[in-house]
Amino acid sequence: MARKYTAAVTESRPEHRYVAVYPGSFDPITLGHLEIVERAARLFDEVVVAVGHHPTKPGFFSFEARVEMIEQSLAHIGNARAAHYSGLMIDFCRQIGARVIVRGLRAAGDFEPEFQMALANRELEPGVETVFLIPEPRKQFISSSLIREIASHGGPFQKFVPEPVAAAMMARYPNFYEVRRQA
Ligand code: COA
Repeated sequence: MARKYTAAVTESRPEHRYVAVYPGSFDPITLGHLEIVERAARLFDEVVVAVGHHPTKPGFFSFEARVEMIEQSLAHIGNARAAHYSGLMIDFCRQIGARVIVRGLRAAGDFEPEFQMALANRELEPGVETVFLIPEPRKQFISSSLIREIASHGGPFQKFVPEPVAAAMMARYPNFYEVRRQA
Protein backbone atom coordinates (compact mmCIF):
# COMPACT_ATOMS: atom_id res chain seq x y z
CA MET A 1 0.00 0.00 0.00
CA ALA A 2 1.33 3.43 -0.90
CA ARG A 3 2.50 5.41 2.10
CA LYS A 4 0.84 8.78 2.73
CA TYR A 5 3.10 11.72 3.54
CA THR A 6 1.59 14.61 5.43
CA ALA A 7 2.56 18.25 5.09
CA ALA A 8 4.14 18.10 8.55
CA VAL A 9 7.06 16.11 7.12
CA THR A 10 8.17 18.98 4.93
CA GLU A 11 7.52 21.78 7.41
CA SER A 12 10.66 23.72 8.25
CA ARG A 13 10.66 23.18 12.01
CA PRO A 14 14.00 23.61 13.83
CA GLU A 15 14.21 19.85 14.50
CA HIS A 16 13.86 19.20 10.77
CA ARG A 17 16.65 21.53 9.78
CA TYR A 18 19.98 19.89 9.04
CA VAL A 19 22.85 22.12 10.01
CA ALA A 20 26.22 20.68 8.98
CA VAL A 21 29.61 21.76 10.26
CA TYR A 22 32.57 21.46 7.90
CA PRO A 23 35.54 21.78 10.28
CA GLY A 24 39.18 22.19 9.33
CA SER A 25 42.28 24.30 9.63
CA PHE A 26 41.57 26.09 6.31
CA ASP A 27 45.00 27.72 6.34
CA PRO A 28 44.01 28.82 3.74
CA ILE A 29 40.75 27.56 2.18
CA THR A 30 41.37 26.05 -1.28
CA LEU A 31 39.22 25.25 -4.30
CA GLY A 32 39.23 21.64 -3.05
CA HIS A 33 37.58 22.73 0.20
CA LEU A 34 35.21 25.01 -1.67
CA GLU A 35 34.00 22.14 -3.82
CA ILE A 36 33.15 20.18 -0.67
CA VAL A 37 31.19 23.16 0.68
CA GLU A 38 29.26 23.44 -2.59
CA ARG A 39 28.38 19.72 -2.46
CA ALA A 40 27.39 19.91 1.21
CA ALA A 41 25.25 23.01 0.61
CA ARG A 42 23.13 20.97 -1.81
CA LEU A 43 22.55 18.30 0.85
CA PHE A 44 21.96 20.28 4.05
CA ASP A 45 19.91 23.31 5.07
CA GLU A 46 22.93 25.20 6.34
CA VAL A 47 26.67 24.58 6.17
CA VAL A 48 28.96 26.21 8.71
CA VAL A 49 32.57 26.20 7.58
CA ALA A 50 34.35 26.26 10.91
CA VAL A 51 38.01 27.03 11.50
CA GLY A 52 39.34 24.94 14.37
CA HIS A 53 42.63 24.94 16.21
CA HIS A 54 44.85 22.02 15.25
CA PRO A 55 47.21 21.22 18.14
CA THR A 56 50.32 20.74 15.97
CA LYS A 57 49.75 23.26 13.18
CA PRO A 58 51.27 26.69 13.95
CA GLY A 59 49.05 28.69 11.61
CA PHE A 60 50.12 30.76 8.62
CA PHE A 61 47.10 33.09 8.57
CA SER A 62 45.35 34.26 11.75
CA PHE A 63 41.94 32.78 12.61
CA GLU A 64 40.31 36.10 11.77
CA ALA A 65 42.01 36.28 8.36
CA ARG A 66 41.01 32.67 7.58
CA VAL A 67 37.39 33.30 8.53
CA GLU A 68 37.29 36.47 6.44
CA MET A 69 38.76 34.71 3.39
CA ILE A 70 36.23 31.89 3.80
CA GLU A 71 33.34 34.37 4.06
CA GLN A 72 34.46 36.11 0.89
CA SER A 73 34.93 32.80 -0.92
CA LEU A 74 31.44 31.56 0.07
CA ALA A 75 29.61 34.69 -1.09
CA HIS A 76 27.94 32.76 -3.93
CA ILE A 77 26.57 30.01 -1.65
CA GLY A 78 23.43 31.28 0.06
CA ASN A 79 23.24 28.66 2.83
CA ALA A 80 26.90 28.56 3.88
CA ARG A 81 28.70 30.73 6.42
CA ALA A 82 32.05 30.88 8.18
CA ALA A 83 32.86 30.60 11.89
CA HIS A 84 35.68 29.59 14.18
CA TYR A 85 35.83 27.65 17.41
CA SER A 86 38.27 26.71 20.12
CA GLY A 87 38.13 23.44 21.97
CA LEU A 88 36.47 20.31 20.66
CA MET A 89 34.65 20.44 17.35
CA ILE A 90 31.88 18.29 18.80
CA ASP A 91 31.21 20.94 21.47
CA PHE A 92 30.93 23.52 18.72
CA CYS A 93 28.41 21.27 16.93
CA ARG A 94 26.33 21.02 20.12
CA GLN A 95 26.57 24.77 20.65
CA ILE A 96 25.06 25.62 17.27
CA GLY A 97 22.69 22.64 17.07
CA ALA A 98 24.49 20.92 14.17
CA ARG A 99 23.66 17.26 13.61
CA VAL A 100 26.20 16.57 10.89
CA ILE A 101 29.98 16.87 10.52
CA VAL A 102 31.18 16.98 6.92
CA ARG A 103 34.70 15.88 6.04
CA GLY A 104 36.36 15.43 2.65
CA LEU A 105 38.03 12.14 1.77
CA ARG A 106 40.67 12.70 -0.88
CA ALA A 107 42.62 9.47 -0.95
CA ALA A 108 43.07 6.20 0.90
CA GLY A 109 45.55 7.89 3.24
CA ASP A 110 42.82 10.19 4.54
CA PHE A 111 40.69 7.25 5.62
CA GLU A 112 42.43 5.96 8.77
CA PRO A 113 42.65 9.24 10.72
CA GLU A 114 39.17 10.28 9.55
CA PHE A 115 37.75 6.93 10.62
CA GLN A 116 39.26 7.34 14.10
CA MET A 117 38.03 10.90 14.45
CA ALA A 118 34.51 9.97 13.32
CA LEU A 119 34.36 7.10 15.84
CA ALA A 120 35.68 9.30 18.65
CA ASN A 121 33.17 12.02 17.85
CA ARG A 122 30.36 9.47 17.77
CA GLU A 123 31.38 8.28 21.25
CA LEU A 124 31.41 11.86 22.48
CA GLU A 125 28.06 12.74 20.90
CA PRO A 126 25.98 9.98 19.31
CA GLY A 127 23.50 12.56 18.00
CA VAL A 128 26.02 13.97 15.52
CA GLU A 129 26.72 11.96 12.37
CA THR A 130 29.92 12.28 10.28
CA VAL A 131 29.38 12.35 6.52
CA PHE A 132 32.27 11.98 4.05
CA LEU A 133 32.26 13.65 0.66
CA ILE A 134 34.72 12.85 -2.11
CA PRO A 135 36.19 15.76 -4.07
CA GLU A 136 36.41 15.52 -7.83
CA PRO A 137 39.64 13.77 -8.95
CA ARG A 138 41.35 16.90 -10.30
CA LYS A 139 41.08 18.56 -6.88
CA GLN A 140 42.15 15.59 -4.77
CA PHE A 141 45.84 16.45 -4.60
CA ILE A 142 45.28 20.00 -3.32
CA SER A 143 46.14 20.78 0.28
CA SER A 144 46.72 24.01 2.16
CA SER A 145 50.39 23.27 2.88
CA LEU A 146 51.02 22.53 -0.80
CA ILE A 147 49.54 25.93 -1.72
CA ARG A 148 51.68 27.65 0.91
CA GLU A 149 54.77 25.87 -0.37
CA ILE A 150 54.20 26.80 -4.02
CA ALA A 151 53.49 30.43 -3.05
CA SER A 152 56.61 30.63 -0.87
CA HIS A 153 58.67 29.89 -4.00
CA GLY A 154 56.76 32.38 -6.14
CA GLY A 155 55.02 29.62 -8.11
CA PRO A 156 51.61 29.78 -9.85
CA PHE A 157 49.40 28.65 -6.96
CA GLN A 158 46.51 30.97 -7.85
CA LYS A 159 44.54 28.42 -9.89
CA PHE A 160 44.08 26.24 -6.79
CA VAL A 161 42.52 28.86 -4.50
CA PRO A 162 39.58 31.28 -4.48
CA GLU A 163 40.43 34.82 -5.59
CA PRO A 164 40.42 36.40 -2.08
CA VAL A 165 42.97 33.80 -0.95
CA ALA A 166 45.17 34.41 -3.99
CA ALA A 167 45.23 38.13 -3.17
CA ALA A 168 46.07 37.54 0.50
CA MET A 169 48.82 35.03 -0.32
CA MET A 170 50.43 37.36 -2.86
CA ALA A 171 50.36 40.14 -0.29
CA ARG A 172 52.43 37.89 2.00
CA TYR A 173 55.14 37.60 -0.67
CA PRO A 174 55.09 41.11 -2.20
CA ASN A 175 58.59 41.01 -3.59
CA PHE A 176 58.06 37.73 -5.38
CA TYR A 177 54.78 38.63 -6.99
CA GLU A 178 55.81 42.27 -7.66
CA VAL A 179 58.86 40.98 -9.57
CA ARG A 180 56.63 38.62 -11.58
CA ARG A 181 54.13 41.34 -12.51
CA GLN A 182 56.90 43.67 -13.73
CA ALA A 183 58.69 40.96 -15.72
N1 COA B 1 40.55 20.05 -0.46
C1 COA B 1 41.76 20.50 -0.21
N2 COA B 1 42.46 20.18 0.88
C2 COA B 1 41.87 19.38 1.74
C3 COA B 1 40.60 18.86 1.55
C4 COA B 1 39.93 19.23 0.38
N3 COA B 1 38.73 18.77 0.09
N4 COA B 1 40.30 18.08 2.59
C5 COA B 1 41.35 18.11 3.40
N5 COA B 1 42.31 18.89 2.89
C6 COA B 1 43.64 19.12 3.42
C7 COA B 1 43.77 20.38 4.21
O1 COA B 1 44.14 21.45 3.38
C8 COA B 1 44.85 20.01 5.17
O2 COA B 1 46.07 20.18 4.52
P1 COA B 1 47.38 20.64 5.32
O3 COA B 1 47.68 19.56 6.30
O4 COA B 1 48.34 20.78 4.22
O5 COA B 1 47.05 21.93 6.00
C9 COA B 1 44.64 18.52 5.42
O6 COA B 1 43.92 18.08 4.31
C10 COA B 1 43.81 18.15 6.59
O7 COA B 1 43.29 19.28 7.15
P2 COA B 1 41.85 19.58 7.67
O8 COA B 1 40.80 18.85 6.96
O9 COA B 1 41.76 21.05 7.69
O10 COA B 1 41.93 18.98 9.09
P3 COA B 1 42.99 19.30 10.19
O11 COA B 1 43.51 17.97 10.60
O12 COA B 1 43.98 20.33 9.83
O13 COA B 1 42.12 19.98 11.30
C11 COA B 1 40.49 20.08 12.99
C12 COA B 1 41.28 19.26 12.03
C13 COA B 1 40.93 21.53 13.11
C14 COA B 1 39.09 20.06 12.47
C15 COA B 1 40.61 19.35 14.25
O14 COA B 1 41.97 19.22 14.59
C16 COA B 1 39.87 19.98 15.39
O15 COA B 1 38.74 20.41 15.33
N6 COA B 1 40.53 20.00 16.46
C17 COA B 1 39.91 20.41 17.69
C18 COA B 1 39.89 19.24 18.67
C19 COA B 1 39.00 18.15 18.19
O16 COA B 1 37.80 18.22 18.26
N7 COA B 1 39.63 17.08 17.71
C20 COA B 1 38.94 15.91 17.28
C21 COA B 1 38.76 14.99 18.43
S1 COA B 1 37.90 13.55 17.91
